[in-house]
Amino acid sequence: MSPSTSPQALTAEAEAASRDGERDRAAILCEQALQFDPLYRPAHELLYGLFLHGEKYSQVLRRIHEHLRPRTYVEIGVETGASIRFVQPGTRALGVDPEPKIKFELPPNVRIFAQTSDDFFARPGLGAELDGLPVDLALIDGMHHFEFALRDFINLERLCARSSTILIHDCFPHDRTTAKRERVMHFWSGDIWRLVVLLKKYRPDLAIHTIAAPPTGLTMVRNLDPGSRFLAENLERLCAEFLALDYAFLDGDRGGKLNLFPNDWERIRPLLG
Ligand SMILES: C[S@@+](CC[C@H](N)C(=O)[O-])C[C@H]1O[C@@H](n2cnc3c(N)ncnc32)[C@H](O)[C@@H]1O
Repeated sequence: MSPSTSPQALTAEAEAASRDGERDRAAILCEQALQFDPLYRPAHELLYGLFLHGEKYSQVLRRIHEHLRPRTYVEIGVETGASIRFVQPGTRALGVDPEPKIKFELPPNVRIFAQTSDDFFARPGLGAELDGLPVDLALIDGMHHFEFALRDFINLERLCARSSTILIHDCFPHDRTTAKRERVMHFWSGDIWRLVVLLKKYRPDLAIHTIAAPPTGLTMVRNLDPGSRFLAENLERLCAEFLALDYAFLDGDRGGKLNLFPNDWERIRPLLG
């Protein structure tokens, strides 16, 4: 624990650590500053810039759509439509959100289902909504609790092919406060980061990269196995194990523990096959 007792002093220490190339120590100091004052902007901005850079996740998503041109796309959590609007004309796109607040004009190949993702996946005839095709590309960006994202992952992987891609938003939290399960302030990523840790431990067959895209990373999961039942069959025990994991687990190597990958399209593109 640093002897400094003000957000200003802790942030100054963090800046010095960052200059010395001690990124993880700088991150811990910023976190300490934010424990004093969760809204202290200099600490927040320094912490954010230590790991994340380049285009926002929505621009990376747009590039992925343009590159893959998926036949089918499922987005969990559409809110205003700001991300689902990037679908390409040839893509059959399904958006799911119990409270959609669509503000953007969406192309005619997008259908919105105003229901929770659990209800959506339980729908009879879901396969027909996808024209009998697998889900080629999906984005999980719904309820910001780890166990919801885990269920979304399980349900989506069953509908995928091995060559499909599942993206998970919000896996790289800024700090302890915004990673809490309860929303404390406007900005909130919740505890979705636990899903990356879980998948790394129990599904080493998956290819997992967390693109360092602001504001909270975009995790890309490939080499999917639609026949795998391990996660579904152990759901309760996995939830208990990972809900017990403290945020401090990330201290010291948050980039390594969350498989952080440079936000550089020239390096991301080859990951997509
Ligand atoms: C962060 S917003 C999505 C933002 C959007 N993908 C974008 O990038 O612009 C999260 C959305 O998830 C929705 N949501 C909450 N619980 C959900 C659930 N159980 N199933 C699906 N969506 C849910 C909320 O209504 C909210 O609109």
